[in-house]
Amino acid sequence: MARFKVGVVGGGNVGATVAQRVAERDLADVILTDIVEGLPQGKTLDLCQASGVDNYGVRLKGSNSVEDLKGCDVVVVTAGLPRKPGMTREDLIDKNAAIVGSVAEAVRKNSPDAILVMVTNPLDIMTYLASSITRFPRNRVVGMAGVLDSARFAYFIAEKLDVSPKDIRAMVLGGHGDAMVPLPRYSTVNGVPITELMSREDIDALVRRTANGGAEIVALLKAGSAYYAPGSSVTQMVESILKNERRLLPCACILEGEYGLSKTCIGVPAILGRNGVEKVVELKLSSDETALLKKSAAEVTKGLQHLKLG
Ligand code: LAC
Repeated sequence: MARFKVGVVGGGNVGATVAQRVAERDLADVILTDIVEGLPQGKTLDLCQASGVDNYGVRLKGSNSVEDLKGCDVVVVTAGLPRKPGMTREDLIDKNAAIVGSVAEAVRKNSPDAILVMVTNPLDIMTYLASSITRFPRNRVVGMAGVLDSARFAYFIAEKLDVSPKDIRAMVLGGHGDAMVPLPRYSTVNGVPITELMSREDIDALVRRTANGGAEIVALLKAGSAYYAPGSSVTQMVESILKNERRLLPCACILEGEYGLSKTCIGVPAILGRNGVEKVVELKLSSDETALLKKSAAEVTKGLQHLKLG
């Protein structure tokens, strides 16, 4: 049987880590593309040489040509500049919009049936931009941020309570920015809401650290941004899509009326399966949570208006 094919556009740390995680789980053949000559070829050759040791059989190939994205089931877009210390994700908007614009054109031409998983920042805005350029149906354009933000929240909860991260289920909605919306009452230790286990002050501190989770790493690394947890988060989404697992994961989705929002893209719980976003799940939010989501959506709208998309 033919294997799945995953395209990864952008051979930086996030793209290469996605290629590595996809290969290590034997999920799909991988084509890694980048404009820098030799970079995707070198990284995929390195990963191929690890395949016997790590026991995976998928093929990996590096390329400088977007035409090699032909026939991909999923295309992950990581191309673009990362933040430098002190920058917000929104500071990247103009440069990354130009890059994502041309990548989205290439995907439309070369992989018209693919499901697009966007990673480039500012994430929600780049996902909306890719959707408007490819004109793919909205189920086939989704952004990765909620899984990562929730993973960070989950880790901080585990650390604070001194319990295994394996037992934490966390939920973070909203835009992938400072106004993201962690939902403590939907965040549990094996079903026990953290609101039963921690004080309000402790939860608020973890929520703040989560919203600042990417920037904390940028400040430590000084050059570049996080890539291990982002790579893992993308791979979880890709796996749910390729294996039709129908996992319920927070993802950046194009909204058409859900949560009272439309013509925008923001993190909401979604079921991911073989058709991409199978369903956007509408939670009943409290009035406080709704206000936070609206505030987060307003930040995204500002970016869309800046790009004349909103
Ligand atoms: C972060 C970047 C990838 O949150 O947005 O680390």
